[in-house]
Amino acid sequence: MINKDNLKIAIVGCGALTRIFYLPVFKRLSVNPVVLVDPDLTSINDLAKSSGAKKISNSLEDIADDIDAAIIATPNFLHFPQTKILLEKGKHVLLEKPIASKEALVKELINVEKSSGVILQPAMMRRFWKINKAVKTLLQEEIFGILQSVSMQEGGVLNWPVQSTAIFNPALSLGGVLMDTGSHTLDLLCWWVENRDFELEYEDDSHGGVEADCRLSVNFMNTSVKAEVKLSRIRNMSNEFILTGTKGWIKLKPWGNVFEASDRRIEKYIYRQYTREELKKQSFIDLFTEQVKNWLFAIEHGSAPVIDAESVLPSIRMIEQGYQHRRQLKYAWN
Ligand SMILES: NC(=O)c1ccc[n+]([C@@H]2O[C@H](COP(=O)([O-])OP(=O)(O)OC[C@H]3O[C@@H](n4cnc5c(N)ncnc54)[C@H](O)[C@@H]3O)[C@@H](O)[C@H]2O)c1
Repeated sequence: MINKDNLKIAIVGCGALTRIFYLPVFKRLSVNPVVLVDPDLTSINDLAKSSGAKKISNSLEDIADDIDAAIIATPNFLHFPQTKILLEKGKHVLLEKPIASKEALVKELINVEKSSGVILQPAMMRRFWKINKAVKTLLQEEIFGILQSVSMQEGGVLNWPVQSTAIFNPALSLGGVLMDTGSHTLDLLCWWVENRDFELEYEDDSHGGVEADCRLSVNFMNTSVKAEVKLSRIRNMSNEFILTGTKGWIKLKPWGNVFEASDRRIEKYIYRQYTREELKKQSFIDLFTEQVKNWLFAIEHGSAPVIDAESVLPSIRMIEQGYQHRRQLKYAWN
């Protein structure tokens, strides 16, 4: 059996995400990456020392044969080509979101993953969020009846400390807030609703650059479920998800791990799965820890990852169709 202690792991892309989450998670799990990869060698020199990495490199191609597995946390346009190279070489990958910008590309990665017999896990760490898992079971067991509508508002004035300017360049980011925040929001929506057939309307505020504000209306076919999603990186949104069924509703504010429900029955159902304290104390670093642990577990045991690439196909298709059918967002003052 492969053991995480002798697994040679590379971290590819050492920007904000790697510094804030992946390296601290590796410390928590007492795992040392074998190599850090980033074109900016000067800035990762110190990171290598503090993370225990033996080596740094400015080229994934140069080190790809010397590793067993990699976390890819590079600008979005690199996710597909870098992952494909690694999977073809038989290396396991934990791939940051969005795993690719198009459904066909995700399918291509899945095919390579299968033929190489390695693990490709998309980094949808929000599915490890207890409050989100509780909603999933609430829906599966129809605790508030048949789902009718989902309203999701997410975002705020952008303050994530990116190390590169990639997210502002459409050629590197492959999209704006829909591609970025939307990868998570729409993944949760598709995971909860479990219906791969939908039609949608989409509008955003792009005038050639990346969109900073967008709205999406989704009609899930052969069900009564309609979803409204609003995302922004220029306005402080309510950061609230409201799911309404035929017998009640739940309103989540995942940041803060709080929820309100239409009646005590729903609250009791959730608190039977997780205590108030358990829900409250789960932090972002816990989500990333759980994600890395799950990926390592799958590699060590040769088992399927808890979150597989197949399961993100609907949300990637939703993003792709959004951009295909894009309309200009109209403001009240236009
Ligand atoms: N899961 C989440 O919640 C979450 C949060 C933030 C970012 N992300 C994702 O993580 C990725 C990185 O985001 P970030 O905020 O760290 O961005 P960032 O701009 O801070 O970091 C990107 C890093 O990649 C490096 N890079 C560029 N080209 C490279 C190459 N060819 N090989 C290796 N490294 C290269 C850059 O030098 C930079 O250090 C993005 O895809 C983003 O969508 C996910």
